[in-house]
Amino acid sequence: MKIFLTGGSRGIGLKTMMMALEKGNDVAFTYNNPETDVEAIYKEAGRVAPQQKCKGYLLNIRKNEDVVAVVDQVLEDFDTIDTVINNAGINKNNLAFSMTDDEWLDVIDTNLNGTFYVIRAFLPEFLANRKGRFVTISSIAKDGISGQANYSASKAGLLGLSGAIAKEYGQKGITSNVVVPGMFETDMTKESLSNSLKDFWILHCPIKRMGKLEELAEVILFLGSDAASFVNGQAISVTGGLDWAE
Ligand SMILES: NC(=O)c1ccc[n+]([C@@H]2O[C@H](COP(=O)([O-])OP(=O)(O)OC[C@H]3O[C@@H](n4cnc5c(N)ncnc54)[C@H](OP(=O)(O)O)[C@@H]3O)[C@@H](O)[C@H]2O)c1
Repeated sequence: MKIFLTGGSRGIGLKTMMMALEKGNDVAFTYNNPETDVEAIYKEAGRVAPQQKCKGYLLNIRKNEDVVAVVDQVLEDFDTIDTVINNAGINKNNLAFSMTDDEWLDVIDTNLNGTFYVIRAFLPEFLANRKGRFVTISSIAKDGISGQANYSASKAGLLGLSGAIAKEYGQKGITSNVVVPGMFETDMTKESLSNSLKDFWILHCPIKRMGKLEELAEVILFLGSDAASFVNGQAISVTGGLDWAE
C-alpha cells in the first residue's frame, strides 16, 4: 500500500513509518522543522526496507495552500495514496484562565484545522479510486485533561471530524477511524508532562507502564490496511486500559 503520514520526523509518526516500510508499504511523510535531518531518516528507511519507497515533504499543515501543494506533489510522485495517517500534533499546556490566544489557536490550528485540510485535500483522490483509509490520532485528552483545554478541545474535535467523514464517504469505499493513545514516551511527553502525571499513569494503568511505540503503530497500521475494510467511524483506544487522566 501507499501511505501518506503527517509528522513522520519523530516519535509516534517516525516509528509508524518505519514499521509501515518494514511491512512492505511505501510511505510519503511530512515534517515541519526545516532543520530535520531527512537524510538520516532515508538512511534508516533504506536499512529497514531497502526495496520500499520513502520520501519526505516539508509541510506546515496549518497552511491550507501548502497542504494542497504537497498533496498534489505526493500524488504525482507516488501515483496514488491508499492510506492517510493524520499524526502531526502539538501541545501548549497552560491553565485555562491564563491560556493566551496564541496558545489556544496554535494548538487548534495544527491539530484540528491542519488535519481537516489534509483530509479535504485527499478526498478527490480517494473518491476517484472509490477507496481510501483515513486514520487520525486523537488522545485520551479528548475527554479533558487539566492544563490542556486547547489540546483536549482539538483532540475531541478530531472525533467529530473523523465520524463525519466516515458517514459521508463510507458508501464510496472510504473509511475513517481514530486511534486514541494513552501515554507513550516521545518528545511530546518528555517535554511537557510532569513526573507526577507519569507516576499517576503507571499507578492507575492496569498494565502498570507507559505504552511502547510499536504497540501503538500496530493498531494505526491495522486501521490503515485492507484488513480493516469493515471498520469505519470508530475510535480505538490503545491505553493499556486507562482511558482518562486528571
Ligand atoms: N506521545 C503520547 O503519549 C501521545 C498520546 C496521545 C496522543 N498523541 C498524539 O500523537 C501524535 C504524535 O505525537 P508524538 O508524541 O509523536 O509527538 P512529537 O514527538 O512531538 O512529534 C510531533 C510530530 O508532529 C509534527 N508537527 C508538529 N507541528 C506540525 C505542523 N504545524 N505541521 C506539520 N507537522 C507538524 C512534528 O514535526 P517536526 O519534527 O518537524 O516538528 C513531529 O513530526 C500527536 O498528534 C499527539 O497529539 C501522543
